[in-house]
Amino acid sequence: MNEENGKNNKSFEYETNNLIRSTLNEKESVKDLENIAPKPSNQLTNGLLGWYSVSSSESIKEGKLNHFTIYNEPLVLYRDREGIVKCVKDVCPHRGASFLGGEVINGQLVCPYHGARFSSQGSCTNLDRITCQHIIDSNYDNYAKSIKLFQYPCVEKEGYIYIYYTGTPLANIEDFQIKSSINSLLPDSYGFPSLEYEYEEVYVDFKADWARIIENHLDILHVFWMHGDTIPDKNVSRETITSFNQKIKRDNRQIESIYSYKTNGQEEFIRIKFVPPGRIFIYKGSPESTRYIQVLDHIPLGNNKARVIVRHYRKFLKNKLFTNLVLFSHLQRRTFYKIFSEDYLVLKTQTFNDQMGYIQKDNVKLLGEDKMVQYYWDWLQNALNKEKPWDIHPTNSLTNSVHDDRGMQYPPENPNMAIKNNRKIIIKLLTRLLFPISFILLLI
Ligand code: FES
Ligand SMILES: [Fe+2]
Repeated sequence: MNEENGKNNKSFEYETNNLIRSTLNEKESVKDLENIAPKPSNQLTNGLLGWYSVSSSESIKEGKLNHFTIYNEPLVLYRDREGIVKCVKDVCPHRGASFLGGEVINGQLVCPYHGARFSSQGSCTNLDRITCQHIIDSNYDNYAKSIKLFQYPCVEKEGYIYIYYTGTPLANIEDFQIKSSINSLLPDSYGFPSLEYEYEEVYVDFKADWARIIENHLDILHVFWMHGDTIPDKNVSRETITSFNQKIKRDNRQIESIYSYKTNGQEEFIRIKFVPPGRIFIYKGSPESTRYIQVLDHIPLGNNKARVIVRHYRKFLKNKLFTNLVLFSHLQRRTFYKIFSEDYLVLKTQTFNDQMGYIQKDNVKLLGEDKMVQYYWDWLQNALNKEKPWDIHPTNSLTNSVHDDRGMQYPPENPNMAIKNNRKIIIKLLTRLLFPISFILLLI
């Protein structure tokens, strides 16, 4: 299972059906869906409810529960007996316990309270546990038979886990029909040959507003100051102030902002794509010729709590031997970790002022002068007005921290990853030095 995921993760060949691992696709063929899928129109129609990339495939291990929240609603991810990922509301349908401390046994979710086990479809498979003979009420038996887990549609594709979040989990997930609009909103492939790239990812949780984090990632201004000394590019440095031509492209799936050089209008500096509700691609240069890409997935965990899955891709030479010899992937990771930390610092500044109440709508000039950001806020405002996602599970700020221990991955793990990476570099360099030295010693 994991090996297969690993493969998918590095794979770029996307065929609509066979990389999607889900029970959802059994009933309808992709061909039918394509026939009824809406034609693109020149506007973003995606609402905030939609496909969220909530995790990498690798981090959802068999036999383990993974707790998180979306819009304050506590959820659990796990793999069933077939290794298919399930997304379940973290409320046991028996007596409302959380699955915190529960187990996955033979791919069945087991509640820690009375030990009810649930099949992949969501029904209880050990009714005797919860309908013991001492229970006199004969209706209890019927009640127990009818309990079902509440689930969200969930698919696994190219190393990501997506859930289709609607704010209303389904008791009978097998009845769920893929509607054309839902299918057409599932984010498609990366759009670049990821096998050719060195790759690293981190999960970072912030106590900050989800929408502000997305805005921060759409902002190219900070690249020069914050990453100027880290990114090896002559046009990106603290000393350079460059201005670019900006071209915006929009369709019903995404907003794209293309920044090209003023001197040579054909040459792209950076391209940023925003795919609602929460995915951003940042290409250094044009997508066809780029050697560096970031993929950022944003998940609205709750009020002022957001998770970002940051993925960096960097292309080097195809010659693996040479790439290994110069320790390219380790050295590249050093840069990745540095950029992770820099972006983390930026977002911490947002968090701090947000929590202190310093950021008020009127006294902070948001990046509205950048058309990309303007379109993003327009989309967000429309989507919020239409969907009102925060009204679905309003949670009191005093009580909604109950999940943080299990759900939040805060602070981020990248400082540890950087230390481990540095250790590997030292060990590799030492072994490379030791080999010729011992050879010389043997000769003496
Ligand atoms: S509350 Fe879950 S088994 Fe009773
Ligand atoms: Fe007890």
